[in-house]
Amino acid sequence: MAEVNRQWRLVRLVEGLPKPEDWRLEEEPVPDPPAGTFLARAIYLDVAPYMRARIAKVRNYVQGVQPGEVMIGGAVARIVASRAAGWKAGDLVVTDFGFGWQDYAVLRPEAVRRVDPALAPTETWLDVMGLNGVTAWFALFETGALRPGDRVLISAAAGSVGQLAGQLVRIAGAVPYAVASTAAKLAWCRELGFEAGIAHRDCSDLAGAIRTLLPNGVDLYLDNTAGPIHDAVLQNLAPRARIVVVGTVSLADRLGRPDIGPRFFREVLVARARIEGFLVLDFEKRWGEAWARLAELLRAGRIRTRYDIARGLERTPEAFLRVLRGENVGKQLVQVSEL
Ligand SMILES: NC(=O)c1ccc[n+]([C@@H]2O[C@H](COP(=O)([O-])OP(=O)(O)OC[C@H]3O[C@@H](n4cnc5c(N)ncnc54)[C@H](OP(=O)(O)O)[C@@H]3O)[C@@H](O)[C@H]2O)c1
Repeated sequence: MAEVNRQWRLVRLVEGLPKPEDWRLEEEPVPDPPAGTFLARAIYLDVAPYMRARIAKVRNYVQGVQPGEVMIGGAVARIVASRAAGWKAGDLVVTDFGFGWQDYAVLRPEAVRRVDPALAPTETWLDVMGLNGVTAWFALFETGALRPGDRVLISAAAGSVGQLAGQLVRIAGAVPYAVASTAAKLAWCRELGFEAGIAHRDCSDLAGAIRTLLPNGVDLYLDNTAGPIHDAVLQNLAPRARIVVVGTVSLADRLGRPDIGPRFFREVLVARARIEGFLVLDFEKRWGEAWARLAELLRAGRIRTRYDIARGLERTPEAFLRVLRGENVGKQLVQVSEL
């Protein structure tokens, strides 16, 4: 066991795009777990777009990280010492938020789920078998009311939520279309079964490109990004279109400032469209239901996922910034110790 616990602590609340120096790497002695808890060592740390809003000055749906605190984040980890009944050294666990960017954390059993590598590969527990799996599932099937035959546009389609969502759309008998930044990302989407896609960074007329791809309009838009892609979709709505606002990653450098773009409210009226914000925490009581189905699909080989894995705790802020810059293909993780 390492003698110290390395921790990334937040230096300041962030305006604009975060920078590596917004966190500081510190060392503390590895803690002893009090009764009823256990000490776990991280294997994979999560980095994800939601973390941007947790370090902002502006209002969010939960309390954020304060300067001086260890950065929030989930992890797949192995128990190294336990004082909790039913949990022993060697057990694998996953926490969705409660580990932090550090080597070791003291955890309570109610804050974790057991990782069963026989059910699904270890890294999937921060992806398909984690928050992003249930996000894709409920955003499509509940909030998005996905129906067979729907033409479904997905932004950040080669990312963690996007790559899974596209495959679920196909499995449901609907047709997924991708928006992603590069041709390489779109090629990955095609491999996964997306019908076609648009490379948004190279496109000077996004609304026109969507019109060419989907002349009858978009039935369901899984909005992972907000910003100009959202504005372009609003000009291409099919009757009774649903827009599920899952994420606003394109606003990462301007949180708290007005999201100014062209306004297409008449199109919302004409299409009788519905725009609804989505928060995965609202479905917490039903996560198990979705994970059971997702595990079956993984086991049957009907879902494939790609991982972008940075090595070493020291690279964690940089890995997070890669996600905000769109450099990740698939789910970005940081591996900090061996399995
Ligand atoms: N509401 C919820 O409960 C909930 C839960 C989980 C996730 N989410 C949201 O779901 C979205 C996807 O999350 P994820 O973990 O799967 O991340 P991800 O898609 O793996 O990574 C983020 C992707 O966002 C895209 N992006 C970054 N900056 C952009 C910009 N300026 N314009 C357009 N696209 C940009 C990039 O893809 P390209 O290179 O293709 O542009 C990047 O790869 C995020 O917005 C996240 O906040 C929401």
